[in-house]
Amino acid sequence: MNKGKILVTGGTGYIGSHTVVELIEQGYEPVIIDNLSNSSIEVVDRIAAITGKKPAFEQVEMCNYAEVNRFLSANKDIKAVIHFAAVLFVDDSVKRPLFYYENNLLSTINLLKGMTENGIPALVFSSSCTVYGNPDTLPVTENAPIKPAMSPYGNTKKMCEEIIQDTIKASTLKGIALRYFNPIGAHKSALIGEFQHGVPTHLIPYITETAIGKRSVLNIFGDDYATRDGSCVRDYIHVVDLAKAHIKAVERLLTSTNEKNYDVFNLGSGNGQTVFEIITAFEKATALKINYKVAPRRPGDVEAVYADTTKANTELGWKTEISLEEMLRSAWVWEQRLNETA
Ligand code: UFG
Repeated sequence: MNKGKILVTGGTGYIGSHTVVELIEQGYEPVIIDNLSNSSIEVVDRIAAITGKKPAFEQVEMCNYAEVNRFLSANKDIKAVIHFAAVLFVDDSVKRPLFYYENNLLSTINLLKGMTENGIPALVFSSSCTVYGNPDTLPVTENAPIKPAMSPYGNTKKMCEEIIQDTIKASTLKGIALRYFNPIGAHKSALIGEFQHGVPTHLIPYITETAIGKRSVLNIFGDDYATRDGSCVRDYIHVVDLAKAHIKAVERLLTSTNEKNYDVFNLGSGNGQTVFEIITAFEKATALKINYKVAPRRPGDVEAVYADTTKANTELGWKTEISLEEMLRSAWVWEQRLNETA
């Protein structure tokens, strides 16, 4: 049964590709647009290898409204859009703020314009726990105050949420923003996963690259935070668990279960882990040793953040299923696969 066409922007990216797999497995017909700036067309074939179905793909530059409108007007039967497409590296955003503002804001504005013009009614937006900044209380609920962003990247997420909210108020569009905590791991097939050119900035790829010998030592950014062992606390969530939440959000919008026209949900495991704990858990999951040293704090890092998942559990009917050990093992299998094909 075909449950309908769902547009996935950024569908060849890390979270996007895992979500496309889940959509196909749950009977939807995902169509992907991506500009391939940080992903590869090969991902489409890999999704086909996993699911047995090749999703439709079109290379679209979302910063160009004519391209977005041409695509949407030819696909007016799209039932909902999941909007992942964005540039996403915190450090890079500090160096190139205008590139981040231009890319992330303009693509979202063009999408919203195109959706309203072509009568596409529902949007799921890929947001981030970065909007909470350094939270005052833990775990963080969706009602926690939105803090000034720590980076231009974080600011684009906050601003996009606001732009979406204002558009919803002024139209018949409905939307859900999903605030991700720290997505990690890869699909069990090891055919899709996280990919970054050059030196990784995220913790888990840095750990796996150290384990495989591509990096000599992992720097732990600070051991003098007010946490149980001095390193930062984060809420790590497996990307497949995260992907599944998007289908729940789409269904909520399509069945109008959402009482509000706009809503937000935290997507995390609800558990906080320190950097030291992650290293220990990785070593246990893989029987490997990680060479690490303590380094100065990384500017802009939040001391501790983890999710209160009550709202996602009860209202969205979603909870994480994959253990930390499995998350880390899947990241390691993916790293090995990347090196086989390199
Ligand atoms: N860390 C290290 N060494 C590394 C890399 C990271 O110690 O080499 C630490 C960081 O200091 C942090 C933790 O590992 O305490 C996680 O760092 P990541 O870079 O993996 O993730 P962040 O929590 O910084 O990033 C997440 C999201 C971003 C988002 C950001 C903003 O992945 O998309 O939160 O809050 F923008």
